[in-house]
Amino acid sequence: MCGIVGIASKRQDVENDILNTLANLEYRGYDSAGIAVLKNNNILCKKVVGKINDLRNLVSDVDLSSSIGIGHTRWATHGAVNTLNAHPHFTENIALVHNGIIENYDEIKSELQKEGYVFKTETDTEAILFLIDKYISKGLSPLDSVINSLKHVVGAFALAIIFKNYNDLMIGVKKGAPLVVGKSDNHVVIASDVTSISKIVDDVIYLKDENIVQIKSSEIELFDTKGNPIKAEFTKVQKSLSNDINKNGYSHYMLKEISEQPMVIENLNSNYNNIIEIINEQKLDIYKKIIIVACGTSYYAGLVAKYWFEKFTTIDCMVYTASEFCYLKKRLNKDYLVICISQSGETADTLASLKYSKSLGVKTIGIVNVPKSSIDNEADYCFYTFAGPEIGVASTKCFTAQLTVLLKFILGLAEINNETDHDLISKISYELSSINDKINEVLSKQSLIAELAEYCAKFKNAIYLGRQNAYPIALEGALKIKEISYIHAEGYSAGELKHGPLALVDENMLVVVIANSTSEVYLKTISNMENVIARNGNVIIISDKKLDIKNVKQFVMPSIIDDLTPILYAIPVQLLAFYVAKEKGTDIDKPRNLAKSVTVE
Ligand code: F6R
Repeated sequence: MCGIVGIASKRQDVENDILNTLANLEYRGYDSAGIAVLKNNNILCKKVVGKINDLRNLVSDVDLSSSIGIGHTRWATHGAVNTLNAHPHFTENIALVHNGIIENYDEIKSELQKEGYVFKTETDTEAILFLIDKYISKGLSPLDSVINSLKHVVGAFALAIIFKNYNDLMIGVKKGAPLVVGKSDNHVVIASDVTSISKIVDDVIYLKDENIVQIKSSEIELFDTKGNPIKAEFTKVQKSLSNDINKNGYSHYMLKEISEQPMVIENLNSNYNNIIEIINEQKLDIYKKIIIVACGTSYYAGLVAKYWFEKFTTIDCMVYTASEFCYLKKRLNKDYLVICISQSGETADTLASLKYSKSLGVKTIGIVNVPKSSIDNEADYCFYTFAGPEIGVASTKCFTAQLTVLLKFILGLAEINNETDHDLISKISYELSSINDKINEVLSKQSLIAELAEYCAKFKNAIYLGRQNAYPIALEGALKIKEISYIHAEGYSAGELKHGPLALVDENMLVVVIANSTSEVYLKTISNMENVIARNGNVIIISDKKLDIKNVKQFVMPSIIDDLTPILYAIPVQLLAFYVAKEKGTDIDKPRNLAKSVTVE
């Protein structure tokens, strides 16, 4: 999704820090970029379709030196990818960058057209641009112009605005999309996330929804949307964040993040060894109905959790994709606990589901990787996944981190409620504490996965199969490979194959089978695989049991208790997707059309 930055400085070289911050925001996903500065009290704006490096090239011989400016990475929502639609947008009076959506832009546009405004782009952004411009032209102050404009606007968005003739003034607005304000001795900075500015600021304010920030001669003032002042609360910036966004010698963020999983799981094992205390303190053991809401990979973590809830507890667990749940209008009451899983903590659908649940008085908890994100702020309680920044668009370490937190939580509930044999809980907990030896073994054999990937890359279609707790891993494997290698892939529960998808299987179909031999349905999965072999499908099996079947390729896994299959078997499916994408030469960390933080519904 779009990334925004605005910098007001005591120095005259904001353009460099704006471009560097935009490079740090690249991971969010974008298709065009731009920068605008105030130069001799006039707005100077440059935009490109393409990457930040293209923008750097474009401005390399333009004098953008200034003490104030804004920048943007655009992930197209309204209007084609072109320089006209790219941000910043500007008028004679103002320039602004925008992340999110102005839902009623059409209505505002019609009104403003009647007043003579000529819309040139296909974006929703021009509506708020001209609205603010209108109030400035009427003689209102910049702050009053913004406050008045916000009264007309519906949607979830964040803005950074600079004003002609005010070379020391910048205004930011947070309304449903992320925005932070940072400061150092030289700079005051507005940005979409703290990681992108951690090198250039020392303290940060995590803005709340409906906050307006005015930066005037380096002074930071906060207001609500009625213009009432609000006290600013600063937090020290963790300087290590800027190291976490380096590739540390890896070719890709995705590979780095896959490799970090042992460290992440080790941290979680120690950070949550007090899970029973948390459950007791938060009174989370009283619920018999749990609803999990999430999107994409985080949703698949929820699907795994359902298997664990059903096996280890008597809790009824329902799992929904957030975009469906928030409009289902399910009749929730205080008997329900709603768990929202989100790496970014900003996913608009998940956030909307959380707000809906809260509006019915339901207790909500989040499982997020980004502290101070919107879901962290809104939920009654949040479990952090402590995985460090995840930059690759395809989620990897946060998926296994979510699974680890969920399993520890579910085993904690089972223990408190005395619903599972204590020895089994101890055995699983013990195996979880030593799972890293097995993950490291898989990571050490990745050259074998790279060889398999060479074979897989020639296929146009793939089916991933698994049963029981391996079924969500089949879904996740298919999602990973499709999003970064663009091979069409679908995950099925292996038992469903004969009810339709088998019709697709022939000598052109790749079929990846996930089968841990410690599962009670292992032999059934193997039978389902035989159905594929009989129809000339091209099978790769990921399993701990060495098989010798003609034309079947295999990646041999370490042996593990079946309950931990989802965590361990996630690793080879991530690696397979990575190496297939590498083989195909795609932009692995920034796959086409996708965004890391999906802040629009
Ligand atoms: C896939 C992927 C996405 C996200 C989804 C939810 O690799 O990363 O499917 O899982 O967009 O994002 P979060 O977890 O930030 O809510």
